[in-house]
Amino acid sequence: MGGLARRVSYIKAFRHRSNGEVPALYLDAGNLFTDEKFINDQLPPEILAKNRWVVKGYSEFQHDAANIGFADLPYAAELLKKDGYEQRVSELSFIKKLTSANIHPADDSKIAPAPYLIREVMLKRGGTERKVRIGIIGLTEAGQILVAQKQNRYAGFTIEDPFQAVKNILPEVKSKADMIIVLAYMSEDQAKNLANGNPEINTIIVARQLSSTNEPQHYSNATITVANNQTKYVGELRYYFKGDGTIENQINRYVGMDPVIPDDPAALEIVTNAHNDFTNQQNNATQSNIQPTAMLGGSGNGLFVGAAKCASCHQEEHKIWENSGHARAMATLQKNGQQLNNACVGCHVVGFQRGGFQSLNTTPQLVNVQCEACHGPGKFHAEKPQKGYGFMATPQGCVQCHDKTNSPNFNFSTYWTKIKHGKAA
Ligand code: HEC
Ligand code: HEC
Ligand code: HEC
Ligand code: HEC
Repeated sequence: MGGLARRVSYIKAFRHRSNGEVPALYLDAGNLFTDEKFINDQLPPEILAKNRWVVKGYSEFQHDAANIGFADLPYAAELLKKDGYEQRVSELSFIKKLTSANIHPADDSKIAPAPYLIREVMLKRGGTERKVRIGIIGLTEAGQILVAQKQNRYAGFTIEDPFQAVKNILPEVKSKADMIIVLAYMSEDQAKNLANGNPEINTIIVARQLSSTNEPQHYSNATITVANNQTKYVGELRYYFKGDGTIENQINRYVGMDPVIPDDPAALEIVTNAHNDFTNQQNNATQSNIQPTAMLGGSGNGLFVGAAKCASCHQEEHKIWENSGHARAMATLQKNGQQLNNACVGCHVVGFQRGGFQSLNTTPQLVNVQCEACHGPGKFHAEKPQKGYGFMATPQGCVQCHDKTNSPNFNFSTYWTKIKHGKAA
C-alpha cells in the first residue's frame, strides 16, 4: 500500500495533462501480496487483513492488469476460491485484473485466473484515431523454495514451466492483439531467454529485482524493462508509434513518488484505514495467548529480549549460534560502512520494523541475526518457558533473508548443517 496515494494522484494527473489524448495503462508485474508467515497452508489474520486492503485499495483505482507472482499465490488462493467467487468479484473488481498463464489450480476448489487480458486503447495524436489492442500475459517463475524441494506446487496451485506456458498461449494472443506485453515475475536472465525464444513479444516488464532504474534493454523483438520493487517509484514506459501503427521506440523512466507529488485524498483514506485495521489485527495477534507464528520476528513491540536472555537456559544452542556468521551480521555491515542504511539492516538484525531493532544507539542488544530473528519475540517464553514457542518453517523462513539477491548460493540442507542446533542437532 506504500505510496498508493501518491501513485494514484500521479496517474490521474498524467491522464489529465495529456487531455486524455495519450492513453495510459496501469500495470503491475507481480508481488502485490505478502506470503509472510504462510505456514500449514494458512495466512494469519493480520496478514490476511494486510492483503485484503491491497485488493480493496487497488479495486478503487484504475488498474488495468496485474501479474500473479510466486509470493502472491497464498493470497491469490483466497481470492480465487470458487466458494463465494462471484460475490467477491462484484465487491473487488481488481480480482478480474489478475492474470497468469502458468499457474493452474491444483484441484477444482479454485477458479483459474485469466491466462491473458486484452486491453484496447485509442491513439488520438496526429489527427487520426486508431484502435490498438494490447495483449497482456502474466508469468511467474517457481520460487526458490519449490526449486530447492524439486516441487511445482505452492498454495494449492501448480506452477507450469513459464517458457512452455507462453509458447502454448502466444498464437491465440497474437490473433487477438496488435502488440504483446508480458508481465514477468522472474530474473532478468530468464526474461532475456523469453525474449529470444519468442519474437511475438514486444515488451517484457520484469519484477523480482531489488531495484533498478536502468535503461530498457533489447533482445529479439522485445524491450525489457524492470519494475522497481519499491513503491517509492512508478516506472513509466512510453511507446512511440510509426505511421503504419508499428512500435518505433520504447523509452522508460522512473518517477520518484516523493512529497512533491500530492496524496490523492480518496486513496489516502484507504491507506489510513488499512493501516489502522492492520495495526489492530497485529495487536490482537500479539495479545492472544497463541504466540504469533515465528518467522522473522512476527509482530512484537517491546517483546524481543535478545540472545543473552535465551543463553541463560539454552547454553548449547547459544554456543552454536555465537560461532556462526549470524552472530556477526552487524559487524559485516559496519565493515562496509552500511550500518545506518535501512535497506541493509533489516536482514542483519532482529525484528527491524517489527517492534525490534531500531538503531545502534537505542537497541544495541538487538543487532545481528539472533535467536528471535528466527524464533520470533521471546519475552513471554523467557518468562514462562513452554512448548509451542518458536517454530520456524524451513526453508520458507530462511529465504526471507537468504533471497536470490543476497544469498544466491543458498541451499537449505548445506546451510542448515552449518547452524544446526536444538533437537535436530
Ligand atoms: C528460563 C529459561 C528459558 C529461557 C530464558 C528461554 N527458554 Fe526456551 N525453553 C526453555 C524450556 C524449559 C523449554 C522446553 C519447554 C518444554 O519442553 O516444555 C524451552 C523450549 C524452547 C524451544 C522449543 C519449543 C518447543 O515447542 O519445543 C525454543 C525454540 C526455545 N525454547 C527458544 C528460546 C529462545 C529463542 C529464547 C530467548 C528468546 C528462550 N528459548 C529463552 C527454557 C527457556
Ligand atoms: C533475519 C535474516 C536471516 C534469516 C531469517 C536467516 N539468515 Fe542466515 N544469514 C543472514 C545474514 C545477514 C547472514 C550473513 C552474516 C554475516 O556473515 O554477516 C547469514 C549467514 C548465514 C550462513 C553463513 C554463516 C555461517 O555461519 O557460516 C548460514 C549457514 C546461514 N545464514 C543459514 C541460515 C539458515 C539455514 C536459515 C534458516 C533456518 C537462515 N540462515 C535464516 C540472515 C538471515
Ligand atoms: C533480504 C535480506 C538482506 C538484505 C536486505 C541485505 N542483506 Fe546482506 N546478507 C544477507 C544474507 C542472507 C547474507 C548471507 C549470504 C550467504 O552467506 O549466502 C548476507 C551477507 C552479506 C555480506 C557478506 C557477504 C559475504 O560474502 O561475506 C555483506 C557484506 C552484506 N550482506 C552486506 C549487505 C549490505 C551492504 C546490504 C544493503 C545494501 C545488505 N547486505 C542487505 C541478507 C540481506
Ligand atoms: C537462522 C535461524 C535461527 C536462529 C538464529 C536460531 N534458531 Fe533455533 N532453530 C531454528 C530452526 C529452523 C530450528 C528447528 C525447527 C524449529 O524447531 O523451529 C531451531 C530449533 C531450536 C530449538 C529446538 C526446538 C526443538 O523443538 O527441537 C531451540 C531450543 C532453539 N532453536 C533455540 C535457539 C536459541 C536459543 C537461539 C539463539 C542463541 C537460536 N535458536 C537461534 C532456527 C534458528
